[in-house]
Amino acid sequence: MCSSRVEPTFVLQAFNNGIDGVLIIGCHMGDCHYMKGFEYTQVRMDHLKNLIKYLGIEADRFELHSISASEGKQFSELIIDFTKTIIEFGESKIPKKPGIIELEYNCKKK
Ligand code: FES
Repeated sequence: MCSSRVEPTFVLQAFNNGIDGVLIIGCHMGDCHYMKGFEYTQVRMDHLKNLIKYLGIEADRFELHSISASEGKQFSELIIDFTKTIIEFGESKIPKKPGIIELEYNCKKK
């Protein structure tokens, strides 16, 4: 419901399970239904990004952005750009665990 619901351990667990990239999207600053949710998320995820770097995972495999529901074009561009970034990095060095779903994307074929 809110980006602040995403606990840093969720992100670490995703990487530990072999996910190649994690993108968290929240509301614009000041638009959070829960008032300061995105601000809290930003502080927590900034710390998490440092931890991710420390763990040897490329920091750009993890991003936090804010977009409103009316910004479909920006949302689409963000997803495409993030997907391209992850494809350029290649697969995560952390082995994938069985059952992890891999999403195919058109730019992967280019
Ligand atoms: S409702 Fe909190 S970030 Fe969107």
